[in-house]
Amino acid sequence: MKIIMLGAPGAGKGTQALMIAKKYNIPHISTGDIFRANIKEGTELGKKAKSYMDKGELVPDELVVDLVVDRLGMDDAKAGYVLDGFPRTIPQAEALDKALESVGDKVDYAIDIAVPDENIISRMSGRRACVSCGGTYHIVNIPPKKEGICDVCGGKLILRDDDKEETVKNRLSVYHKQTQPLIDYYSRKGILKSVDGTCEMEQVFKSITDILG
Ligand code: AP5
Ligand code: MG
Ligand code: ZN
Repeated sequence: MKIIMLGAPGAGKGTQALMIAKKYNIPHISTGDIFRANIKEGTELGKKAKSYMDKGELVPDELVVDLVVDRLGMDDAKAGYVLDGFPRTIPQAEALDKALESVGDKVDYAIDIAVPDENIISRMSGRRACVSCGGTYHIVNIPPKKEGICDVCGGKLILRDDDKEETVKNRLSVYHKQTQPLIDYYSRKGILKSVDGTCEMEQVFKSITDILG
């Protein structure tokens, strides 16, 4: 099963993608997580990506596409995957389709998690992310059992650098301009499924598993 997660920043792509990956036993591939890992390790890619991410801008397509195509070619991705944060522009979507077509493959579902902009800011300011496993919490909506500590791996929970209010506002505007057109793109291909992302996390997950089976 090959799944793409669509949705605004903070819609819950990462939260749902982790649950999907666990239930269907497929890897969760998040370009945001890959960039953050590179920033932490101080790689060249990390240095380049950080300058865009801190402003809430997208990292240029040429730094993203090959990275994802390589990752999808790895053994653990043969049976499927859930892609979170990619594609994010029409050229990325076209590059993905081309790479998959060349090996006789295609995406099965593009799941759009719909959440209005008004809900996003408060979600982001309350978000805490695990530095070790990428697990995501919310100080009010989805708190960890122990404050500041990841339930899953015991890692430290932090506020992401790009979750400051001004940066979130720019990420939303970049989303509307560059990423939202993908909803039409996948709708035309007949694989778009939209779910209401404003309900509780478990309810959103149920809507998704009703679609995936
Ligand atoms: P990325 O890491 O992908 O960030 P994003 O798309 O802005 O999305 P987020 O991770 O912020 O939100 P999410 O939808 O995963 O929500 P979450 O589950 O955490 O990308 C970061 C940056 O990297 C980009 O800005 C760009 O610069 C760069 N980048 C990455 N990929 C790229 C690409 N392909 N091309 C170019 N550049 C790229 O949930 C949010 C909060 O809400 C959490 O606190 C969570 O606990 C809470 N929550 C979740 N579900 C619910 C619910 N149902 N009810 C209440 N609260 C909930
Ligand atoms: Mg995420
Ligand atoms: Zn963790």
